[in-house]
Amino acid sequence: MAGRAVPLILDMDPGVDDALALVTALRGGRVAGVSTVAGNAAAADTCRNARLVLARAGSPGLPVAAGAERPLFADPLPAEAVHGPHGLWQAEEAPGPLPTPWPEPAWRWLGRLLEGTEPVDLLATGPLTNLARVFLWFDGRPPALDTLVIMGGSLSAGNVTPTAEYNLYADPEAAEVVLAAAGRGRTRLVGLDVTRRVRFTRGDAARLAGLGGTLGPWLAEVVTAYVEAAARRHPQGPPGAAIHDVVALAALEQPELFEWEERPLGVVTTGPWRGSLLPLPPEAGRAPVAVARRVDVEGFGRWFWRRLGL
Ligand code: RIB
Ligand code: CA
Repeated sequence: MAGRAVPLILDMDPGVDDALALVTALRGGRVAGVSTVAGNAAAADTCRNARLVLARAGSPGLPVAAGAERPLFADPLPAEAVHGPHGLWQAEEAPGPLPTPWPEPAWRWLGRLLEGTEPVDLLATGPLTNLARVFLWFDGRPPALDTLVIMGGSLSAGNVTPTAEYNLYADPEAAEVVLAAAGRGRTRLVGLDVTRRVRFTRGDAARLAGLGGTLGPWLAEVVTAYVEAAARRHPQGPPGAAIHDVVALAALEQPELFEWEERPLGVVTTGPWRGSLLPLPPEAGRAPVAVARRVDVEGFGRWFWRRLGL
């Protein structure tokens, strides 16, 4: 589609790296709205946090639709040690009254957006519960879904179990529903194999204050707390913290920064490997998904700071 940018929807569980991805996406000028889901924090927290980021970023009028309060079958799995008890490391205060959430649940709002003929891109950076409900409603990939980028999974080590990554582990049944149909269009999976390679340091977090206004100093504080929590969890680990969801946004906006491998994929939903990605042979009859295998780390940094104007 020459000229007009395809509208972008973010389905997320803010969460600090989700929040940073939202701020970065807003600078691209094509965000049409946000749906939120229980994940890093409870559904009420992730919905408030998305509205908080939009208000601080000067986009309070964008719709935020609250979604699933729990996975399809699993119990909620909040990630307090990573994002704090309410998702943004106790920096959840608002600069003023927050806009009310969209009056429909996320899956109904997404369904209306995706049933039309106008193409929509979607970045999913939380558990795929909302998206699975939409895919079940359409009995497969919704007609208007153009490019779908999912932050999730790992073809190397996991971050919840030795093989499972958080977004897929939190709702593996939902991930299986989406990946079973995702391959029929442009679907990219951005997993820990590449997101771990980009490290955000305390200095990077402090640099965000340059955004100024009600956003910059607040965002620097939130991301600093996120980076410091990572250092506490992994004192012997690599410097900095992974900003998984921002890397997934880059995969949507700048796919040439990545090397891709087309693979049919499933998700294990039972037993000790629950939540793990399952590479499938062509004989499985499932269409392939583009899986990110390598990332140009320096190229990502240039894109990210240029996008933020810092
Ligand atoms: O495994 C990392 C993913 O889980 C990121 O999306 C993070 O925000 C959490 O949702
Ligand atoms: Ca997330």
